[in-house]
Amino acid sequence: MILIVGGTGSLGGALARRLLAAGARVRVLTRVEARAAPLAALGAEVVVGDLTDAPSLLRACTGAEAVVTAAHSLFGRGRRSSAHVDGAGHRALAAAAEAAGARRFVHTSAYDYGPAAARIPFFRIKRETEAHLRTRRLALTVLRPTAFMESHAHLLIGAPILAGRTVPLFGRGENPRNFVAADTVAAVAQRVLEDPATIGETIDVAGPHNLTHLEVVRLYERLSGRVARVRHLPLGVLAAAAAVLRPLHPGISQVIRLGILADNGDQRADASALEARFGPGTTLEAFVAARVADASGAAPGTPATAGAVA
Ligand SMILES: NC(=O)c1ccc[n+]([C@@H]2O[C@H](COP(=O)([O-])OP(=O)(O)OC[C@H]3O[C@@H](n4cnc5c(N)ncnc54)[C@H](OP(=O)(O)O)[C@@H]3O)[C@@H](O)[C@H]2O)c1
Repeated sequence: MILIVGGTGSLGGALARRLLAAGARVRVLTRVEARAAPLAALGAEVVVGDLTDAPSLLRACTGAEAVVTAAHSLFGRGRRSSAHVDGAGHRALAAAAEAAGARRFVHTSAYDYGPAAARIPFFRIKRETEAHLRTRRLALTVLRPTAFMESHAHLLIGAPILAGRTVPLFGRGENPRNFVAADTVAAVAQRVLEDPATIGETIDVAGPHNLTHLEVVRLYERLSGRVARVRHLPLGVLAAAAAVLRPLHPGISQVIRLGILADNGDQRADASALEARFGPGTTLEAFVAARVADASGAAPGTPATAGAVA
């Protein structure tokens, strides 16, 4: 039995579908049972729990040989803050996995974007959690993915274009950054679970290309036939907003800081070592083509036209 914490998210869902298709027994932890209904329909066992509720983690880990983490809390505050969920929650999960005898532990962290990123709580806590996990009696592998296409290309850029809404871009949108598909990360996680030689490793997981946000806009325009409306939000105004919001809502403040970093930090990554080892990842073009086909109701692979995109 493989427990996926965050099985209802982009990465956890992709991994659950891969493992179920390969005939593995999969258990998914969610805070809200209904969110896991599509995976239950595919044969996953669903357990209701919360990273901030230690007894629920012990119940979830009992009988699991492996635990995969794919959960995070970026926007939350109080009990839902990064410190509680990405930090203390993951330490409690590691203790539960150890107590339940689930020695194999695959942890999803985040790519190392250097000192500027390390000043943002989310990235700092991710590093602290990695360091803590290395002290436990767990057969640990850490994955460090770059920005997911699902959230950073589609949710923030592509979905508004396909819905005919204005795309708000932080800054100029001319900073190249690496995007990886959640399914590419899931494919690596699946291989890692099968391969004991990966125990003790920390693996950077990047996608094939580095593109700017404006290039992502152009890609959606080209593949959908739509013309995007883009509004550039000045970084200075955003930095001021992040500072004002910091004591009031640290979660929103840190998400703004992450957005600023996406426009002015080094966000590039090189996938060549990963691809030599695990095979090629999904390209952004293929990912966007699939989203455009979904939005137009066309069969995958059918070019969408402007008229077909509702
Ligand atoms: N998205 C990115 O660009 C990106 C980049 C690098 C690394 N990562 C890392 O990759 C992993 C997966 O990210 P994702 O984008 O696939 O996530 P996602 O789609 O945003 O989904 C978040 C998941 O976290 C779960 N979750 C949130 N709070 C929880 C809590 N208190 N207790 C238990 N589960 C909780 C949610 O489960 P329920 O709502 O069902 O409870 C959901 O399954 C995370 O560790 C993330 O930090 C993501």
